[in-house]
This record gives sequence, C-alpha cells and structure tokens, in this order.
Amino acid sequence: MFYQNKNFEYTDARAYDRRGELSILENYVLKLWQPFLKNKIAGLSGGKVVADLGCGTGEYAQGAKNAKKIYAVDISAPMLKLCREKLKDFPQAEIIQLSVFEANLPQADLIITIGVWEYVNPKLLFKTIEKMSQKGSKIIVVFPNIYNDLNLVRSVFKMKRVALRPGFIKKLFKADFRLIESANFGMVSWVPKKLQFLALPVWKFCDFIWRPFQKFLPLGINIYYLFERK
Ligand SMILES: C[S@@+](CC[C@H](N)C(=O)[O-])C[C@H]1O[C@@H](n2cnc3c(N)ncnc32)[C@H](O)[C@@H]1O
Repeated sequence: MFYQNKNFEYTDARAYDRRGELSILENYVLKLWQPFLKNKIAGLSGGKVVADLGCGTGEYAQGAKNAKKIYAVDISAPMLKLCREKLKDFPQAEIIQLSVFEANLPQADLIITIGVWEYVNPKLLFKTIEKMSQKGSKIIVVFPNIYNDLNLVRSVFKMKRVALRPGFIKKLFKADFRLIESANFGMVSWVPKKLQFLALPVWKFCDFIWRPFQKFLPLGINIYYLFERK
C-alpha cells in the first residue's frame, strides 16, 4: 500500500488515511498523535479563522468544526478530493489546491502545520506563517524529530530532509513568537513489521518512563510546538 510516488508526491489519499493498517508501528504512532492534535485544534479554533497549511485529507481540519472560517490548503489534488468529502458538512471551509507559498491567504487566528515542514523549505514556510499571523495568532507546528531512531534511519535511507532539528524550528520562531507549550512522545524505533508485536510493549514502556524527561532530551517520533505571535 503506497500513497506516495518516487518524488514523494501524495497520490493515494485513501491509502494515506489507512496507513495505520500498514504496521503496528504506524498504528501505535497514529493513535497517540491524532487524538492529541485534534483535541488541541478543537480547543483553539472555536469562532476563529483557521488555516491548515498542507492539510492533506483534512483529518486535522475536522477538529476545527466550530471555527468561523477554515482555509484548507494543499498541493495534492488526490488528497484534497478526500478532504472535500470529509469537510462536506463544514460550510465555513474553503479548500484550496495550491502550494502554501502561492495561496496568499489572509491573516488567521490559528495556523496548523502538521507533517509539512519536512516537504518544503522551512524558512519559507516560516515567512509565510509570519505574513499570515497577527498579535495573538496561534501556530501549531509538528515535524519529525531528528533524535528519534526511526527518523534517523528514514533520513539516511529515504528522504534526506525528513527529520528536522528541534532547535532549528524553535530558532525561526524565537524573535516574534512565544512558545506556549511543546510535547513529544512515541518513542518508536525501526523493527521489521513481523516483529513489531514484540517491540510494542517496549515502545510503550519507554514512552512511559521517558515522558518527564522529553523536555530536556526529546526522543519521540514527532515534535509538537504551540507558538503565539507576540
Ligand atoms: C505528511 S502529509 C500531512 C498531511 C496532513 N497535514 C496530516 O498531517 O495528515 C504532507 C502534505 O503536505 C502537502 N504538501 C507538500 N508540499 C506542499 C506545498 N508546497 N504546499 C502545500 N501542500 C504541500 C502534501 O501534498 C501532503 O498532503
């Protein structure tokens, strides 16, 4: 079940949404992160103007049910086809097929950038966010953590830029934004699919033990930051 072509373009949206079926590892990671992020989005979006940059199939935009306006932007037609279906009962949603750098969106109260940093030039994405934000705007940032084993393996063998240093993104935001909160969990490492059932209890145990120390040395699969424009 492949959802990307060899240029890392997203070609099969349904397969992307079903990636949890690919392996115990994918399923474990998704079940940790998706509810966490959707709760955050639901809590921050009521009555607000929301922009989801690199929205994919709109899984996270669905968390913004009570938003005043949603801009869901992605470059991939197949991903947006499914996004349109998911957001069909969201009259406030505007779905835009463009690069985030061409969309020229108005200012937003909540800007969501989940899993897109590793596909674009992060400095340009930051500039776009800067332009779209005003005092008090909140920004959700999620990207792969270089200190996680699995991302290191992926970076070396698959996509050179898959893992981004936490310090790098933080630095981009430092001058004009305040870090409100951060999170990091899902201490998975690469294990062949057939043996992942053996690794699952270990991953869970490591998550439990390491959680208090994640702030100092983040080892989880993704980094989550919530920033506010100063
Ligand atoms: C890993 S997926 C994340 C999708 C969604 N945010 C999620 O977490 O489920 C990355 C998405 O970024 C989109 N993307 C990559 N480069 C983009 C660009 N320059 N402008 C807009 N979308 C882009 C891809 O088409 C894909 O849907």
